Amino acid sequence: MESIYKRVSDCFERSLNGSALDSNSREFLAIEAYIKWVGKDVAKNEHPKGSGIKIPELLNRAADPVHGKKIYTTNCERCHGSNGEGQINPEQNGYSYPPLWGNHSYNTGAGLYRLSNFAGFVQSNMPFNEITHHNRLTNEEAWDLAAYVNSQPRPVFAEQHDWPDVSKKPFDHPFGPYADSFSEQQHKYGPFQPIIQSKKQ
Ligand code: HEC
Repeated sequence: MESIYKRVSDCFERSLNGSALDSNSREFLAIEAYIKWVGKDVAKNEHPKGSGIKIPELLNRAADPVHGKKIYTTNCERCHGSNGEGQINPEQNGYSYPPLWGNHSYNTGAGLYRLSNFAGFVQSNMPFNEITHHNRLTNEEAWDLAAYVNSQPRPVFAEQHDWPDVSKKPFDHPFGPYADSFSEQQHKYGPFQPIIQSKKQ
């Protein structure tokens, strides 16, 4: 069970690579009130339409960062920059386009650092503003892009205590130790099917 405070703090510390808010701060209490208000009509165990991330179908090969780089240059670079640095907003107090790697990006403890989350998020939401999605990324493009972006340098998060029971790690958790004998490399980039298969057995 995770409290709202833990969940929100994880986003600050991982996705934003910053510090958690104080649990009694005006800012945290405001976020908590907002979350409770947004969810007030949602029944327990119900997943509202559009929530969560839909994971693209798995490839039967490892994701390929070299192919991913090509997709990045064509579809992503104009907003997120050739070095993944994003674009600072005109007021200079934040980003119009968030960085995808480097010092100001999400860190290695963030959900997006797992290939499945990155591929799913990007296939459903990017390129930004093209929600009609005639140019929707294929499964291969989404996985290969994820491999490219997540092979670039970013801040490191001390995630060693995230999975006290290593057998519960998701198939694409990129850091060992594991309950199986597949390498970190394969857990990060795939192919994932054999890992999932061995988990079932
Ligand atoms: C037209 C500009 C534009 C293009 C093109 C674009 N993005 Fe984005 N991207 C954005 C904006 C704006 C956001 C922030 C969205 C938000 O905060 O709701 C974003 C957010 C993201 C995020 C979330 C980052 C984070 O730390 O939260 C990822 C990952 C991402 N984009 C990847 C991609 C990839 C991969 C591509 C190429 C397929 C792409 N984007 C193309 C504008 C763009």
